[in-house]
Amino acid sequence: MNDSTRGLRFSPLAADDETTVRQWLTLLDDAAGDVPGAAPPCAADMTGSLRFPPPATKLEDWVVRHEGRGDRVVGALRLALPDGADVARVDQLLVHPELRRRGIGRALYGRAAELAAGHGRSVLSGTVVEALPGGPERDTAPAAFAAAVGARRAAAPAGVHQWLDLGVHDPLASGVPDVPPGYGLVTWGTITPDAYAVPVSMLEQSLGDESFDEDAAADREVATSYAREFETMRVGRGRKAYHTGVVHEASGRLAGYTSVSKTTGNPAYALQGMTVVHRAHRGHRLGTLLKLANLAYVLRHEPAVRLIETANAEDNTAMIAVNADLGFAPADRWTTWTGLVGTTGSD
Ligand code: ACO
Repeated sequence: MNDSTRGLRFSPLAADDETTVRQWLTLLDDAAGDVPGAAPPCAADMTGSLRFPPPATKLEDWVVRHEGRGDRVVGALRLALPDGADVARVDQLLVHPELRRRGIGRALYGRAAELAAGHGRSVLSGTVVEALPGGPERDTAPAAFAAAVGARRAAAPAGVHQWLDLGVHDPLASGVPDVPPGYGLVTWGTITPDAYAVPVSMLEQSLGDESFDEDAAADREVATSYAREFETMRVGRGRKAYHTGVVHEASGRLAGYTSVSKTTGNPAYALQGMTVVHRAHRGHRLGTLLKLANLAYVLRHEPAVRLIETANAEDNTAMIAVNADLGFAPADRWTTWTGLVGTTGSD
């Protein structure tokens, strides 16, 4: 323990504690330059995230205050606890930029490990932003920190983060490609229509793989719960979403879909989320068609959008190539680190 960590006081971050929430939002704003070019935090989205967790996940949100800094919030921790898993995910571990290298990060990680143990989890995992070879520079502190607290880089493929700047490249310059014969496009907004709720959930869970046992997952309540829980989170966070789906006309089945979402606070930024085409319908350039048709749909409703962010696993070379074709430029990689609870490397 040093002078900086001696005055630290942890407390849970409750959604109805307006003063603390305001200080937490200020901390997020102050740290917004950590990843240059990333979307600034949206207050409505972040405040909503305190009340609306991702599907099948509980959140522990904490802040740490510092006596020597007028008892203000100087760091934050979000632990995500997926139902029935052994892992506790560190979704946020953040120290105010002016107070780094004083042991506050280590203290937050120690608290994360304590909380994880309290929930019976034995593994902590988290993602860390790193530079791509030849890509824009990124702060090396997060990876150095993860190693210092005893975490190890996971064997799982990293995520590649790509950005499309519509001011630099307009993939719609030559319009939306023709829909191949035998297929038709449909669009929907934030709420998935009942007719697509089961197919969307199936595609989301199977990632379009034919070996996925649809009959075993065909209990409607279970099959649709993912899509509906996801919507609840989006609506609670004030997010809007735009979807385009492709229907195979002969069978009437939804063969694929793509999803773009937006926070309320950042009119220029959008997030390209899931795109999936069922394996039986691949090879017709439906992925590219879906993304372009959906981009046109987004821009009709959100003309201020200029920057679109997306992320894919590094081994998903097909989707990364589709994105590169559309003008998405590589930004950085997100590596996963895991640590065993009880071996935190704390002093
Ligand atoms: N360069 C090299 N080593 C570093 C650096 C750095 N810039 N920063 C931290 N470390 C290592 C050092 O070994 C350090 O020990 P030392 O200072 O005795 O040498 C050790 O990490 C602990 O450092 P702390 O002072 O406890 O960490 P800090 O309070 O600076 O917080 C953090 C580190 C959280 C990564 C901070 O830089 C930050 O908020 N970054 C933005 C958010 C982020 O990327 N979080 C990801 C965290 S990792 C994860 O979630 C798995």
